[in-house]
Amino acid sequence: MSNSLREEILELKKKNNILILAHYYEDGEIQELADHVGDSYFLAEKGLQSNSPNILLAGVVFMGESVKILSPDKRVIVPDLKAGCSLVTSSPFQKYKAWKDAHPNSVMMTYINSSAEVKSISDVICTSSNSEKILNSIPKDKTILFGPDKNLGKWLSKKFNRPMEFWEGTCEVHVLFTAKELYQLKAQHPDAVVIAHPECNEDVLEQAEFIGSTSFLLKTVASNPSKKFIVATEDGIFHQMKKERPEAELIQAPTGTHCACNQCPYMKLNTLEKIRNSLATFSPELKLPKDLIEKAQIPLQRMVDITQGKPANWN
Ligand code: 13P
Ligand code: SF4
Repeated sequence: MSNSLREEILELKKKNNILILAHYYEDGEIQELADHVGDSYFLAEKGLQSNSPNILLAGVVFMGESVKILSPDKRVIVPDLKAGCSLVTSSPFQKYKAWKDAHPNSVMMTYINSSAEVKSISDVICTSSNSEKILNSIPKDKTILFGPDKNLGKWLSKKFNRPMEFWEGTCEVHVLFTAKELYQLKAQHPDAVVIAHPECNEDVLEQAEFIGSTSFLLKTVASNPSKKFIVATEDGIFHQMKKERPEAELIQAPTGTHCACNQCPYMKLNTLEKIRNSLATFSPELKLPKDLIEKAQIPLQRMVDITQGKPANWN
């Protein structure tokens, strides 16, 4: 990274009073410039707690929307509005609503990787780091509709023996890790600990010793005494893992092809140049209609309350 670009970013950030939040899947040089780096729940909570009137979210658009919904008075800037997510595109509002309408009296538990519209008709939101807590807060006699990530839903359902209906959505990055190649890689490295994000396919998760959110996987690498890990998630997280355990060997889980499939193309749309331009111009700014914010805030705030151990308000 050129020093002048880095200095320019730091100066603009200070001059314009903009807080930078970055997801673990961003490039290391972006993570290094951020005020806070974390998983999707951590970023939403930081946005909510921050006193800064301006927040630049270096991640994908649904993460910026979550900050905006929880803190409507703050100006939320995203460097590239095209930073989508395959889970968002696989859950169009009208179809998701029809699914809900077909199941009256059920609880709709929606992953934060979804549009603001989809959130607005959901009963509660979860992230990969709080999904277990959220699920366990739902009364046992309720039918659960879980979407849009079927792999996260299936993993939760199996772990807690809770039947659910699943939406057929997946993360286009995590489903590329393949079970057969992982099995072969494990045979070559019997001393390696396999860790995986729950968005991976079931046959990959079955081979992992530790499964959880990006922050959980980072904590596992930091605290587990093993010197070798096979990591089934997006490669941006390697930056923090290497900082925590410079002596450990981190092996990317295989995808069965030779492409850089372990990179999220949406996260990687963010660049230092775009961040500099956004800090200088306060744009692109994320704007959402007031009534949509008010509706989506209910399940998102419910998620925050449950995660923070407050009683859930289901009314
Ligand atoms: P985390 O909630 O673990 O940060 O995951 C977000 C994400 O988009 C994973 O693909
Ligand atoms: Fe969406 Fe997958 Fe990218 Fe995460 S890694 S933002 S789930 S496409």
